Amino acid sequence: MKSPYHSLMPLPKAELHLHIEGTLEPELAFELAARNGVVLPHADTDALREAYRFADLQSFLNLYYELMAVLRTERDFADLADAYLARAAAQGVRHAEIFFDPQAHLARGVAMGTVVEGLWAALGRAEERHGVSTRLIMCFLRDESAASAMETLAAAGPYLDRITGVGLDSAEVGHPPVKFREVYEAAAALGLRRVAHAGEEGPPEYITEALDVLGVERIDHGLRCAEDPALVERLVRERVPLTLCPLSNVRLRTVDTLADHPLPALLDAGLMCTVNSDDPAYFGGYAGDNFDAVREALGLDREKLRQLARNSFLAAFLEDDEERRTRYLAEVEAYAFV
Ligand code: ADE
Ligand code: ZN
Repeated sequence: MKSPYHSLMPLPKAELHLHIEGTLEPELAFELAARNGVVLPHADTDALREAYRFADLQSFLNLYYELMAVLRTERDFADLADAYLARAAAQGVRHAEIFFDPQAHLARGVAMGTVVEGLWAALGRAEERHGVSTRLIMCFLRDESAASAMETLAAAGPYLDRITGVGLDSAEVGHPPVKFREVYEAAAALGLRRVAHAGEEGPPEYITEALDVLGVERIDHGLRCAEDPALVERLVRERVPLTLCPLSNVRLRTVDTLADHPLPALLDAGLMCTVNSDDPAYFGGYAGDNFDAVREALGLDREKLRQLARNSFLAAFLEDDEERRTRYLAEVEAYAFV
């Protein structure tokens, strides 16, 4: 059945939860593999797409880390980010805060400088080329040791002028936020903003711990807060943004179907929810696709959709450019739904 709605692609939005390695489309993966002489264990792009059936977060992460083998040079990282920014811009993204996973590259012998300089080349021209402002957020892999995270923070030292904040991602269960207390203290001392994945597959307690122990300013995912009314109340009271990723949650089976997603309940509770794409090449959609999907499946009305867009700019790390935030917010208010 054809959707009764017009697409929300033109609605101005910020993307606050996006792993750049998760934007590697099969076509680009094969192109980079050929360029770098890397042999992928998949016959072609169709066969690769067939592998995109995930049972849970770990089964996705296995493929996500495997495909990173094709990313080797500054140019590869620049091409990857450039391709994402073009797609994001076409879906109404005006500002993107981009995660990257340096440990996954350092472990393959790709230097921090190669990753950051490559991404920075694309980000540096993003405004001119795509009309998108950007920030970079360096994530630690929570299934690696705290010592490894601390070494990674040290390795980022020469590039800190390019890095806005730190995050925490990868396999959640069994790797509580407290494991990274000292790393986050060190990051805070360096003036870095702090976010963390919590309450995606892990329990609501991880959300509380990320706030209390790591001092995070936003929770990535966080949808399992819905299981704890007292936590929801706290998140509302403290205006803690959640960077929700609805299509990701369906693909990784965090929710059974989109219609079961807690987004409407969390919005009704007064939570500062945002909608993001996480790993769009793997989960079937970029930011605008996620907006369209939640509207379709959850029947959010125009004011709720406008609120989601407004929240994305309110929750963005734009404190160094409030004029820009004001401009983006004005674009959201001026947006005419059709
Ligand atoms: N790394 C990339 N995507 C992720 C996700 N959704 N959760 C945890 N780690 C990730
Ligand atoms: Zn994520």
